[in-house]
Amino acid sequence: MAQEKPPRRRSMVGWYDPRVLAHSAYQVAIANIFGRHSDTRLIEALASQPQAEFNYSAAQGDFWFDYAADIGDGWNSTFAVADAIARPELTLQHDGGTVTTQSGKVLVLGGDEVYPYPTRNEYDTRTETPYRLAFAGRPRPDVFAIPGNHDWYDSLVAFSRTFCRPERGFAGCHTRQTRSYFALQLPANWWLLAIDLQLGADLDEPQVQYFQKVAARMDDAARLIFCVPEPRWILEDAYPRHSSYEELTSTRFLEEKVFRRKARVFLTGDLHFYKRHENAEGVQKITSGGGGAFLHPTHAPATRQLRNGFAERAAYPDAQTSKRLSWRNLLFPFINPKSGWLYAFLYAMSAWLASASLEASDVINIPTALAAATNAAIRDPLNGMWLVTVIAAFIFFTDTHVRSWRILGGASHALLHLAAAFFVGWIALRLTTQAFHLSYGSIAQLLISGLVVFVVGGPVGAFILGVYLFVSIRIFGRHYNEAFSSLRIQDFKQWLRLRIDASGVLTIHAIAIDRVPRRWRAAQRGGESTMEADDARASAPRLIDKVEVRP
Ligand SMILES: [Fe+2]
Repeated sequence: MAQEKPPRRRSMVGWYDPRVLAHSAYQVAIANIFGRHSDTRLIEALASQPQAEFNYSAAQGDFWFDYAADIGDGWNSTFAVADAIARPELTLQHDGGTVTTQSGKVLVLGGDEVYPYPTRNEYDTRTETPYRLAFAGRPRPDVFAIPGNHDWYDSLVAFSRTFCRPERGFAGCHTRQTRSYFALQLPANWWLLAIDLQLGADLDEPQVQYFQKVAARMDDAARLIFCVPEPRWILEDAYPRHSSYEELTSTRFLEEKVFRRKARVFLTGDLHFYKRHENAEGVQKITSGGGGAFLHPTHAPATRQLRNGFAERAAYPDAQTSKRLSWRNLLFPFINPKSGWLYAFLYAMSAWLASASLEASDVINIPTALAAATNAAIRDPLNGMWLVTVIAAFIFFTDTHVRSWRILGGASHALLHLAAAFFVGWIALRLTTQAFHLSYGSIAQLLISGLVVFVVGGPVGAFILGVYLFVSIRIFGRHYNEAFSSLRIQDFKQWLRLRIDASGVLTIHAIAIDRVPRRWRAAQRGGESTMEADDARASAPRLIDKVEVRP
């Protein structure tokens, strides 16, 4: 029996780790420049064989398929979901009874298959290995995937290698697609159309032509499920002045000009929670991004009643839980210890620049020192440039679509940090001159006070950021992404299990794992190596929502 070496179990991505921040910023910038100017979808379409729809319509009996999105993050969360998806049968608690579900013939991955950015190694350790071990010794589905923004950050190079090479497969499962979009013909005339909108919201011409050919093979009774990379119906409502979140013209174009009918169901990820919205015609818009990535808040932005007529029918986790979790931002320095390096640098640089223009007579007390530092900030170009850069950076970081709020919020946040840097610098000065009796301005005094500011500034700055994020998400309902990526919550995971029965009814089950296992042990299944949960405190998968869409 082959004994493999245990997999590398990655922790949740530390989004405030300066290395991750810098590399993400670099990747996003490059992707925005080259991705938009040299569209990989076009190259893929030219280079690959023509792709038809993939036909599963002849399947006998109930047809089951799974949908998971935002998957490749920490091991605990990613593997917990993968392992639950791969179990041939899953019995779930619901309304005092139980519901038995079966693993899908098809697994659709709905975007953001890896974090923080796509490389061959990250796809391998964070995504493919957990799924390979989950399917070990179990029936394997056909796997299909569309890219989310994180998959696009290398212009789709690693995504194409992972999901668009049928001869290679994914995690021991068959893959069939050769492009980053696809159509599945399902039983009872249901069609699943998975759309790649790149980093913006644009359809490329080969993709439009592909869906036109698919549409030509549909009859009048065909029913559509759209898989899209983002819940624009939530984002356009939360950021009404953000031009790129305007009513998504691409899916409307597909409905009106290509398929000439409305989609009955929309599936997406991108936001890492479960929410189901429904309109008066019974159209379902489902956000299901709980496949592994950190949890997003469900209480903000408010989505109970969207302006486009869709109302929220279910949310997981509930708003109370989401609000309670946001308190953890007050522990920001402990959850994101590496973020301290950024503030250590910011505080030390600020104190250094301010101290260079202070005389011994200025530092008798805080008001005279503050007046001298302010004077220097105005008179000294280097000092002034530093302040302007710091304030501009914080304004850029502020999350609002109202410009005046952005300037006010960002400037206040920056001034809070600059004030804190000043006081930490003042304390370092007093400590070195009064307690250590070093003469003001000597090399030793400057170096030691610089070191004090560096060491104390890190956690102080990180704490202020945590307070800022807590206030933003609890009072203003903003920074939904930053105020929860900071928490790195691996629990509250979920995915969708869908069934088409003989009468053509599509039943969508939303399944959640409240607490994912923290401990695992190596195991064997069907002669293959795998891992098993070894944590009594972990929760079993449960049904959190169920909706039937009738033909
Ligand atoms: Fe995501």
